[in-house]
Amino acid sequence: MERFRIRKAIEVLAFTLLVVVAGMNACVHAPYVLPTTQRTNDPAICFERDILPIFVSNCAKSGCHDAQSHKSGYQLDSYAGIIKKGIVPGNAAASSIWESIAITADEDEKMPQNAPPLSTAQLDLIKRWIAYGAVDGGACTSTCDTGSFTYSGVIAPMMQSYCVGCHSSSAAAGGSLADYSSVKNAAVNGRLIGNISHLPGYNPMPSASLQLSDCQVTQVKKWVAAGALNN
Ligand code: HEC
Repeated sequence: MERFRIRKAIEVLAFTLLVVVAGMNACVHAPYVLPTTQRTNDPAICFERDILPIFVSNCAKSGCHDAQSHKSGYQLDSYAGIIKKGIVPGNAAASSIWESIAITADEDEKMPQNAPPLSTAQLDLIKRWIAYGAVDGGACTSTCDTGSFTYSGVIAPMMQSYCVGCHSSSAAAGGSLADYSSVKNAAVNGRLIGNISHLPGYNPMPSASLQLSDCQVTQVKKWVAAGALNN
């Protein structure tokens, strides 16, 4: 009887300890995560329009995090690939991707490697996207208008969002798309439209897994047809 009581007491003690330790752990390590109910998407962000192009043109380059290389297991050319590893929805601080693009000072871990860091505006978008639950889709109602197609108002910002991460200078594979004369050259030799339309025989741009919208392709075609002006 006495033995039974001692055993029982030990069991209770062990269980209590377990609960206390687990509880402490939860307090010390569990990072703050936005409650699921608050993970509605930020109305201003659309994953495909605002977030994916940043990853594709800065991370999913050949030799880095594209389908062929997927360095360190990160393939960053689609929602599924980006969300699979390195993003904790609702918690940028616990997301290794955020750590490597925004926080670490370690040269080996800092991303993108051998390239300028992401801009403050790009980092702010990614941070807000993660904070609001890192959802696919989001506020994707298109504001694209096929009636606007000036270089400064439409084409240059489009190149900046979708292309310049890879085409930052004439030394880049495929050349530069960072200034008017380079974009015009690509337009005039016909590669620009072939590539963004993903036509057979052309390299699909910005990538095989990411396409500009029909409206955006139409804007580029109209700009080219009107003489690819610096307007
Ligand atoms: C992930 C990196 C990456 C992104 C993003 C990207 N490109 Fe490219 N692009 C390349 C590479 C690499 C080449 C060279 C391909 C080759 O020679 O096989 C290239 C080549 C080109 C060429 C030269 C012709 C050719 O087919 O070789 C054009 C024009 C072009 N890209 C347009 C674009 C446009 C427009 C965008 C944005 C809508 C874009 N690219 C986004 C990597 C990229």
